[in-house]
Amino acid sequence: MEMSHLISLLILLSFETFGDSLRFPKNFKFGVATASYQIEGGWNASGKGENIWDRLTHEHPDWVKDHQNGDVACDSYHLWKQDVEMLKYLNVTFYRFSLSWSRILPSGFSNYINPDGVRYYNDLINELLKNGIEPMVTLYHWDLPQPLQEVGGWPNPLLAKYFEDYAKIAFELFGDRVKTWITFNEPPEVCESGYAEGANAPCYKSSGIGDYMCGKTLLLAHARAYHIYDKLYRPKQKGKVGITIDAIWAEPKTNRIKDIKAAERQMQMDLGWWAHPIFSKSGDYPEIMKNRIGNLSKAENFSSSRLPQFTENEIRFIQGSFDFFGLNHYSSWLVSDLKIPVNAPVSHWKDVSVLMQQDPKWKPSAATWLKVVPWGLRKLLNWIKKEYNNPPVYITENGFADFGELNDFGRLDYLKGYLNALLKAILLDGCNVKAYTCWSLMDNMEWRDGYTLKFGLYYVNFTNPKRTRTEKASAEFYKTIIETRTILEDLEQVIVL
Ligand SMILES: *[C@@H]1O[C@H](CO)[C@@H](O)[C@H](O)[C@H]1NC(C)=O
Ligand SMILES: *[C@@H]1O[C@H](CO)[C@@H](O)[C@H](O)[C@H]1NC(C)=O
Ligand SMILES: *[C@@H]1O[C@H](CO)[C@@H](O)[C@H](O)[C@H]1NC(C)=O
Ligand SMILES: *[C@@H]1O[C@H](CO)[C@@H](O)[C@H](O)[C@H]1NC(C)=O
Ligand SMILES: *[C@@H]1O[C@H](CO)[C@@H](O)[C@H](O)[C@H]1NC(C)=O
Repeated sequence: MEMSHLISLLILLSFETFGDSLRFPKNFKFGVATASYQIEGGWNASGKGENIWDRLTHEHPDWVKDHQNGDVACDSYHLWKQDVEMLKYLNVTFYRFSLSWSRILPSGFSNYINPDGVRYYNDLINELLKNGIEPMVTLYHWDLPQPLQEVGGWPNPLLAKYFEDYAKIAFELFGDRVKTWITFNEPPEVCESGYAEGANAPCYKSSGIGDYMCGKTLLLAHARAYHIYDKLYRPKQKGKVGITIDAIWAEPKTNRIKDIKAAERQMQMDLGWWAHPIFSKSGDYPEIMKNRIGNLSKAENFSSSRLPQFTENEIRFIQGSFDFFGLNHYSSWLVSDLKIPVNAPVSHWKDVSVLMQQDPKWKPSAATWLKVVPWGLRKLLNWIKKEYNNPPVYITENGFADFGELNDFGRLDYLKGYLNALLKAILLDGCNVKAYTCWSLMDNMEWRDGYTLKFGLYYVNFTNPKRTRTEKASAEFYKTIIETRTILEDLEQVIVL
């Protein structure tokens, strides 16, 4: 018997002896996620336009850890039928994937629609539905068409309108079959990594200024897409539109008041920056964010706050523009108060003024930032429940990084811990979580880390022209969770047998 089959048998036997008490609700949905640039390849196939990740990896291969790119990646542009077979094997309720804006609108603008891009996503969506798998579609997962970057990218307020045009075309083309839409994936990464820290394409470094301009456009772009759906498509298509925000859990490092306040400030100025305008009763940025950036800007002799304000109309336009709260969560940090002098260089970090560390006792992963802290997820879900009146939450990403081993017990252990914490948040705390998504279906192009980090339930052989996919132990484990709707507590003991 193959090792993976032995494992799956042991997992199954143990599940059957497990009680009925800790089960996910009947209508709870399980899925897996990917993103266009990370899996599709076909970077210049059949009329696709260039995007900012094509540009970055081609112009600066040395900015990617292994000097690789997404030109071929998992080749899902050709191998999408295999992807659907894997999804079917896993028995997921839904598949979260993203549309490549440049594949559909090569110039970024709505003046020309590329028929091959439409054909590709129609094929994928139809194949999913044929196999009883719901498509959950992200409109923007970081791959901005390069021509829109040439005019400044997200700090340019006009992009809100161009995004609405793109969203409208996607609703029009695919909305008869796609019922769950995510406007943006991880705004903090789009704006902080992209325009402040220089970590992700387009790799600009304008912290404390460019990131806030980007944020304003992005929130308005999200709301425009939500409202156009509401007005023109919802009556017939009857789907849901939300946004996916990524968040850490910020645990106060000590129980001193100033560290407790610092951790709360971190939550408000990173997650709240995006969530407060959309999900709070009052709308707009969190008060503490407006105050701090306003006061610091004044002390720095700016003529007005570096945080561009919304008008009253814009505040009302953005507030309530959701059908669900998409949440990506991977890890937690210990947060303490930090005093930064007023004459230090302008930055978002200075605006927040906290020190972030991770406990060396937390289990590591292959990614330096990703430590295994399951209880952080439960605290985060409770924070969202309290702060935003318990909205329906879809966990749209959660996962573990390793180096690609088939017997990926680190990933198994991570999923076990986080799903247990999630179950407690739902059953014991009453958090309104409706769906869970594991990142990722398969190993893929991990942005600036190239192919050095792996998050997949399936292994992909990137040196094989056929990009062969092989299931890992975690695939069996996740499949069993989906089928039994429960989690095994003593899995490690079972595996050690
Ligand atoms: C696509 O890019 C590859 C290099 O990745 C190149 O060899 C090929 O000629 C390009 N095809 C088109 C149609 O531009
Ligand atoms: C910012 O300044 C205003 C008045 O100038 C003050 O009321 C507020 O408390 C200050 N906020 C912070 C966070 O320091
Ligand atoms: C702002 O201007 C004042 C008065 O000109 C000056 O004393 C102060 O150092 C300036 N602050 C910064 C952060 O440059
Ligand atoms: C990946 O594919 C290459 C080329 O076909 C093959 O030589 C290699 O053994 C494969 N690696 C694994 C781990 O399967
Ligand atoms: C898929 O999971 C459901 C429970 O969600 C179960 O009833 C069904 O048997 C599973 N299908 C397969 C093919 O394993």
